[in-house]
Amino acid sequence: MSVREIVEIGHPTLRRRAREVSPEQLASAEIQRLIDDMIDTKRAAHGAGLAANQVGEAVRVAVVEVDPDNPRYPYKPPFPLTVVVNPELERLSDEQEAIDEGCLSVPGLRGAVPRWMEVRVSYLDRSGTPSSLSASGLVAGSFQHELDHLDGVLFLDRVSDRESLSTWEQWERLRRPEFERRARGIVERYGG
Ligand code: NI
Repeated sequence: MSVREIVEIGHPTLRRRAREVSPEQLASAEIQRLIDDMIDTKRAAHGAGLAANQVGEAVRVAVVEVDPDNPRYPYKPPFPLTVVVNPELERLSDEQEAIDEGCLSVPGLRGAVPRWMEVRVSYLDRSGTPSSLSASGLVAGSFQHELDHLDGVLFLDRVSDRESLSTWEQWERLRRPEFERRARGIVERYGG
């Protein structure tokens, strides 16, 4: 296992629709190693998730995991390591909230993105078993962010209020208290 380089905005793979992974490919040493490396890379960078496009591989694999002591997103509820292959997202309600997001591939910037608050994700787990999960609130937002990557979409594309764009430093100084209040409300209301 090893930590791979995270590619940044401007790299063409971030803008490419990633291709489906066949059951044979998923069982291969190459894809299994990619998954292990993505987990290592995500953890080393303290991300809440990582999509294969972000390590320069245009295949439909993403990982989501929020550690209880994540320094980048202290307000996010913990979420166990989940590897999704060929994920499909279905929204379960019309509820939407703006979430302040950042991205390891868009260093230095944050912005508010409207996300569905209740979703179901159907996917293959890393052993190829069809699985599904329901996610709500901030966790639902994390899945939408990672699945967007697999379609070549970055959070910047979905920022509706451009005045919400800020550097991490300005966010810490000016936006963090308000967003943390809102984030607590989302966790209370949606449980995620
Ligand atoms: Ni991202």
